[in-house]
Amino acid sequence: MPQRVLTGITTTGTLHLGNYVGAIRPAIAASREAAVESFYFMADYHALIKCDDPDRIERSRLQIAATWLAAGLDTERSTFYRQSDIPEIPELTWLLTCVTSKGQMNRAHAYKASVDANVAAGEDPDANVSMGLYSYPILMAADILMFNAHRVPVGKDQVQHIEMARDVAQRFNHLFAKRGPQADAGRRPPPEGDHSARGGPSPNEGNEFFVLPEAQVDAEMELLPGLDGRKMSKSYDNAIPLFEGGAKALREAIARIVTDSRLPGEPKEPEGSALVTIYDAFATTAQRAAFRAELRGGLGWGDAKQRLYDQINAEIGPMRDKYETLMAHPERIEETLQAGAAKARAIAAPLLATLREAVGLRRFQPLKAAAAEAPKAKAALPVFKQYREADGRFYFKLSAHDGRVLLQSEGFAGGRDAGEWVKKLKTEGAAALAAAPVARGDGVEAAEVADALAALIAAAE
Ligand code: TRP
Repeated sequence: MPQRVLTGITTTGTLHLGNYVGAIRPAIAASREAAVESFYFMADYHALIKCDDPDRIERSRLQIAATWLAAGLDTERSTFYRQSDIPEIPELTWLLTCVTSKGQMNRAHAYKASVDANVAAGEDPDANVSMGLYSYPILMAADILMFNAHRVPVGKDQVQHIEMARDVAQRFNHLFAKRGPQADAGRRPPPEGDHSARGGPSPNEGNEFFVLPEAQVDAEMELLPGLDGRKMSKSYDNAIPLFEGGAKALREAIARIVTDSRLPGEPKEPEGSALVTIYDAFATTAQRAAFRAELRGGLGWGDAKQRLYDQINAEIGPMRDKYETLMAHPERIEETLQAGAAKARAIAAPLLATLREAVGLRRFQPLKAAAAEAPKAKAALPVFKQYREADGRFYFKLSAHDGRVLLQSEGFAGGRDAGEWVKKLKTEGAAALAAAPVARGDGVEAAEVADALAALIAAAE
């Protein structure tokens, strides 16, 4: 089964060097790996959350599409589309919204940051917070789960969103997944219909709808610094434009990078300098070492900026030419995206049909006898699950009846170690917790875990 890699870029404004280094470049590199199916899209529904200027939305999504193509995305090998061309995504968003707990959304960083800012300003905590902003992570989960992506290359600031997507996927799988004979008995009856035709690679455990995605953060280049050394971001006004404004804008931005006041000839400390970190993102290991040596040897900041400009422009200059050609021919981009949407929908539509079946949005037919209602009491029990992750280690978790993770174990080298801990917790209950290598799930109280373990013990007796 090929690994699926997926990422999106919110289409507000134009792209800067940080977007290129942190998202586009690694994504395009990944799309060239054999045995990888890649999905890249313009997150234009996400853009509407932050922007109510239609012209800006229109311009930005065109520019961003042109950027991906100019940067070398191979649209034959990958699937490249606009989020808003895939009506299955908002539909899935609703299905997921219905199984997402509000408490979890309260803890989303983007929302919390808005609330904190409001509180600090003495405003109502939810002032200027739209439901779009609040539900942002659910739309993002739908983007990812719709295509059963395994890996999601993102910046560090998006990692929480991927974790939320995993959580929602897990909950949905747990509540609705078709259960094979080996699965826990006594839950909801399996949804009807043939699930073999679902639209993704067959997810982890064979009888579930969604793959649990993993965030992929490029360890070397987590967040490119901006002109002032803080994370490069449009909102800090410290960004270096990627293509907009041409070579001139690139040169001007580089001239504004903040450095210390050491003069040419004075030794400079390269580590911690934004200029050097940006240079690193475009340089080989050998070039990085040479640049550091020169700075320590007294290279002036002005000359260092010239080196930086040359280094960056060698990589992106040819792309900029392509970008300008594409911007002059939007109809070519449109055609490419229409083809991409058709490819994406060929995957999204069958999966969504399966999901609608699963939740009970089915074609009318004579109702089944209600016999399946009987084992309800059992269905309320928490469950232990043991599994192995891609890192090769063995894990277990305890989930509540509604799929929330109550306990999550550390990774064990052997399956037997995991099994022994499960057994101990199942027989000794909360007494075994203190020494157990486990962490409570997000927002889970100790008392709930103790109750869950007690319920398992009671059921066993
Ligand atoms: N929220 C992401 C960002 O602002 C963009 C995004 C939307 C995304 N949907 C996604 C990224 C799905 C990865 C996967 O950077």
